[in-house]
Amino acid sequence: MKTVYSAIQPSGELTIGNYLGAIKNWLQFQDEYKCFFSVADFHAITVKQDPALLRERSRKLIAVYLAAGLDPKKVTLYINSHVSEHAELAWVLHTVVNLGQLYRMTQFKTKVQSGDELNANAGLFCYPILMAADILLYDTELVPVGDDQKQHVEITRDIAERFNYQFGETFVLPEALIQKSGARIKSLQDPLKKMSKSDENPGAYLLLLEDKKSLEKKIKRAVTDSEGIVRYIDEQPGIKNLLDIYHVFSGDPIDEIVARYEGKGYGHLKKDLIEVVDGVLSPLRVETERYLSDTTYLDEVIKEGTLKAREVASNTLQRVYDRIG
Ligand code: AMP
Ligand code: TRP
Repeated sequence: MKTVYSAIQPSGELTIGNYLGAIKNWLQFQDEYKCFFSVADFHAITVKQDPALLRERSRKLIAVYLAAGLDPKKVTLYINSHVSEHAELAWVLHTVVNLGQLYRMTQFKTKVQSGDELNANAGLFCYPILMAADILLYDTELVPVGDDQKQHVEITRDIAERFNYQFGETFVLPEALIQKSGARIKSLQDPLKKMSKSDENPGAYLLLLEDKKSLEKKIKRAVTDSEGIVRYIDEQPGIKNLLDIYHVFSGDPIDEIVARYEGKGYGHLKKDLIEVVDGVLSPLRVETERYLSDTTYLDEVIKEGTLKAREVASNTLQRVYDRIG
């Protein structure tokens, strides 16, 4: 049985990008693969976090995983920092990575302004090593992620290969699995940028647990263009993005959606899109709240997940320690 691993950082409210580009895609694996889906809180602290909020968001993320349909009887759901092996393996891996490799990571470059590198915290710079540790601890074969994370999975492979070369076969080489549809949902305000929960402008993203009123406001204000024709082309990135969102939420083929709005303005498309999005998000909101209010059950899921994760992680770490002496 192949092993699948993925994670999300509890570093802000989830956007529909996280759901469409990650969680929703994970569901397809739970019956046929051995799955580990975690909350990457160790990663989140590379950016300043409010401790109480971080704790709350980590639990909430587990509740969202459950609400989205991940079944803790089939998959392992846990919070990274509860399994200290992540930090231990990350340290060991630091010694087989060179700085040049880390300098080439685009995420660091986008998060830190050029010229300001020496003021950035080292955790942010070394973040890909921690991610490699997450993945390698579980002998992961497949890593379903959005395409912005592809480079991190590639460096993980590199690190694993280098370690195996130096110390003998130890790690399984993982592969990124990039989902085509929903792989990159764009900002509603600047459709050339990825929709991100860290955007300064809340109008740029749709939150997973956002109420209908607010969804409505944001979709109505989404940047489009002056063409006035609903088409799925790169020259109309705003409309293209709305069509992408429509497509992934409804499951309808893009050309069918486009045909539906022939001769109609953008207002029609936006109005229907609000219904389509809320139709999926509304039950998700209700379910998430339900899991969050059942603290006994949630605690139990987290505890069980931690035990299952640790069992695998501690084995791998022992193997590594044996190898390095
Ligand atoms: P992050 O929010 O950076 O922790 O991302 C968690 C997961 O959600 C990763 O697999 C990302 O690639 C995915 N993701 C985040 N934003 C988007 C987006 N706008 N479109 C598609 N996937 C996304
Ligand atoms: N770095 C990922 C992100 O920002 C989150 C993450 C942490 C992750 N560890 C992982 C994703 C391991 C896949 C596998 O989206």
